[in-house]
Amino acid sequence: MAVQISPSILAADFARLADEAAAVPNADWLHVDVMDYHFVPNLTLGLPVVEALRKATDTPLDCHLMIADPDRWAPQYAEAGAGSVTIHAEAAKAPIRTLREIRSLGARAGLALNPATPVEPYEDLLGEVDMLLLMTVEPGFGGQKFLDVVLPKVRRARELIGRHGGRVWLQVDGGVDTGTIERCAEAGADVFVAGSAVYGASDPVAAIDELRAAANRATS
Ligand code: DX5
Ligand code: ZN
Repeated sequence: MAVQISPSILAADFARLADEAAAVPNADWLHVDVMDYHFVPNLTLGLPVVEALRKATDTPLDCHLMIADPDRWAPQYAEAGAGSVTIHAEAAKAPIRTLREIRSLGARAGLALNPATPVEPYEDLLGEVDMLLLMTVEPGFGGQKFLDVVLPKVRRARELIGRHGGRVWLQVDGGVDTGTIERCAEAGADVFVAGSAVYGASDPVAAIDELRAAANRATS
């Protein structure tokens, strides 16, 4: 399991996104939180920003769609050049069709679960996904407190993934910092989203290095 860090630009300066992308050259991905004011009570950015960001950075974009109608919109994020497109299980009406469409357009397909959504009902979908995202805060805002209550689900998800060949990445998102990342890594997560912990730091590059080292320590 290789540790990957995906800084969330939700905590970056939206007026300087190209510079903010360039400020994290050691990031594996750039996490892009798309919020529509319907699925979550917040509004952020959409396709035009993703298209512009794609041209402004070589770091692959990890698009997390917190939107009400992902079946309609997700394929367009793959077409816009996102390396990974994650839809919420709670919002998708035809998740299998949408996940397959994302993959057919050349992106990795992700399925996200809110803190209170159980993972077991989605076991049969593991073959359709490249990444499972377990929210460790209620989606909608950066800077929230990490929900320890999700950790047993991270463990169970890692077991399920192991039973299905271990190919699926397991991402955690929300409240991940140097104080919580080790617990996530121990529980089996391998892709870590961090907004405030990276962009709120005075040295984002060092913050990513510290997060990566802590996650590696926890699993070695
Ligand atoms: C929350 C978003 C997260 C958020 C994480 O709904 O999905 O990606 O940016 O921010 P922090 O790391 O500050 O909790
Ligand atoms: Zn996110």
